[in-house]
Amino acid sequence: MVSKLIDQDGRFLEILDRLTTKSIDDYYNPYKLFEWPDSLPEEMWWMSPELTTTHGTEAARRLTEKELHALSRYESINFYSLNVHGIRELLIEVTKRIHTTGFETPSDFFHHFIGEENEHMWFFAEFCLRYGKKIYRQPAGANVEIPRSNVESLLVFARILIFEELVDHFNSRMALDDRLHETIRGINRIHHQDESRHIAFGRELVTALAVDVKQTSTEEEMRDIAAYIRRYMTYSFETLYSPQVYRDAGIKNPHDLRRQLLESPQRAEFEKSVYRKTAKYLEKTGLI
Ligand SMILES: [Fe+2]
Ligand SMILES: [Fe+2]
Repeated sequence: MVSKLIDQDGRFLEILDRLTTKSIDDYYNPYKLFEWPDSLPEEMWWMSPELTTTHGTEAARRLTEKELHALSRYESINFYSLNVHGIRELLIEVTKRIHTTGFETPSDFFHHFIGEENEHMWFFAEFCLRYGKKIYRQPAGANVEIPRSNVESLLVFARILIFEELVDHFNSRMALDDRLHETIRGINRIHHQDESRHIAFGRELVTALAVDVKQTSTEEEMRDIAAYIRRYMTYSFETLYSPQVYRDAGIKNPHDLRRQLLESPQRAEFEKSVYRKTAKYLEKTGLI
């Protein structure tokens, strides 16, 4: 039982205590915190150029600076839209588990997690609706079926962790990028601050769940779990490449561009850099 593993793990208990206290001390009112100018200037980067999907590619060389700025604007709206959808999914899963068997001890932290994620979803949606006039639809394949078994919670929390680490790669960089508007830097900075706690917690919980699952699983089952996690990582990364975004930015053959970009050597490098720490952690845990 995972609850036993958690309750016997002094280190985990100490981390839980520290993260919960930090959530209380750092608590802010998101509805008052941000400055929302009526509009943001179009002629500038809305996303660090190094984090856009065309960076360093042949395709980017064919575009003017104006077109690259437009592309960064739509990619940023897509990025925050993906956050809105990802948060809705994780809220459903964490809410399903709070105060249930196995999750007695982390439930107190879950209250902060759920509260904070609700607020993140609000400010990401607000950004999309104000400056993009829409939230991009959730890409297909998001509801990849999670097997109903004792590994369900492991896969759920591994997915949440992978998603949060992917997002944090972008947040932590954009928070410090002085080419971006202060409103953009601000939401990235605040999100990064909260996510540092969620990620620290997620790594501990996924480690405990992995130990629990390993005790009752065959090698073949562990290989299936690894394959599932790898598929989820690839899927999540590829949602950054949106044909709708390319179309909105005025690109003629958006599906062709997406395919070219996904097959480019730059994609492999970009994916590796986004998941560098995550992959190292998952390998150490023996999950991939
Ligand atoms: Fe969040
Ligand atoms: Fe989070």
